[in-house]
Amino acid sequence: MSSPGEIHPRITGWGKSLPSKVLTNFDLESMLDTTDEWIRTRTGIKERRIAGEGETTASLAARASLEAMKVAGLNAEELDLILLATSTGDALIPAGSASLQKALGAKRAGACDVNAACCGFMYGLSIAYQFVSAGTFKNVLVVGSEIYSRILDWKDRSTCVLFGDGAGAIIVQGSNKPLLKPYFVLGTEGEHAGLINAPNSANPAVKSSASPYLTMDGPKIFKLAVTWMVKSTEKAIEGAGLKNEQISLFIPHQANIRIIESAMNTLKMPKERIFINVDKYGNTASASIPIALCEAIEENRVKPGEYIALTAFGAGISWASAVIQWDPKI
Ligand code: ACO
Repeated sequence: MSSPGEIHPRITGWGKSLPSKVLTNFDLESMLDTTDEWIRTRTGIKERRIAGEGETTASLAARASLEAMKVAGLNAEELDLILLATSTGDALIPAGSASLQKALGAKRAGACDVNAACCGFMYGLSIAYQFVSAGTFKNVLVVGSEIYSRILDWKDRSTCVLFGDGAGAIIVQGSNKPLLKPYFVLGTEGEHAGLINAPNSANPAVKSSASPYLTMDGPKIFKLAVTWMVKSTEKAIEGAGLKNEQISLFIPHQANIRIIESAMNTLKMPKERIFINVDKYGNTASASIPIALCEAIEENRVKPGEYIALTAFGAGISWASAVIQWDPKI
């Protein structure tokens, strides 16, 4: 129920940016002891994008942001806050959001990075919704941007085939037009921190680490991912006061088709209501959900008034789910 004067946050702009270089499973066959068949059947991935030499996390983010601002009809100077979700920032210091703020010319905006690995965008989205519904800020930009190709060991077939580079951005604004109150479920189990690691090699405390690249216990992550995607999605739907069958579109984190299918089977979600693009991009971490949302809108998979469930999991381990009502016009 909405009270007079209440501000209802909503996504009003969206954009994506994918590097032009495509790396197919067949390309990987010539680099590693792997096959297109293994990668496709175990993960659903056929190809992924790889950032070019001049591309950075901030530059991919800027391209996606400009598209999102154009859709929302916003100038850079109207932005109040920039949240850049990334776990592969261009530097430890300063935050990539500062480069993004400069690239956009968003002179009034505060900017910071949000790192919750693959869940970073969802955490950023929840922060944006809080600021807009509280009336603190009017125009918030949330971007997920990642270049995992630079932290992968390209000789390790168990990790390097899984990831890709890219960015997705959205604008959150509010209005008095009534809308379902969005419901977020955020969670972390830090005791599983060792399951996915990419050390900070400048830190002497971690220099003894076996690998300077991303390492992962795939099968353990797989099970936790399914468990938490299911639990947190159920909780988000219930928290929003809805039933599974009222959700028109599910946008899961695109890590592995078997994780998505397993979670969605448990949730009894029919295939036609699940958005999938892992085949084209692999796991783009925090960029995965905003890229998928952007493509779902472009493909007319969601209409005003409909309910969308978004769900992510990742290193930490952490998970994040949300249910929102789609209505981009303020
Ligand atoms: N090509 C061919 N064979 C391979 C490859 C490859 N690219 N990678 C592994 N194998 C082999 C293994 O060596 C193993 O061989 P063995 O049986 O002789 O030892 C066999 O395939 C099976 O390996 P598993 O690891 O058991 O395969 P599984 O079916 O579990 O799939 C995968 C592995 C795809 C990694 C899966 O576990 C997975 O997707 N896990 C989740 C990972 C994930 O989503 N992480 C997201 C978080 S990332 C973040 O937050 C940053």
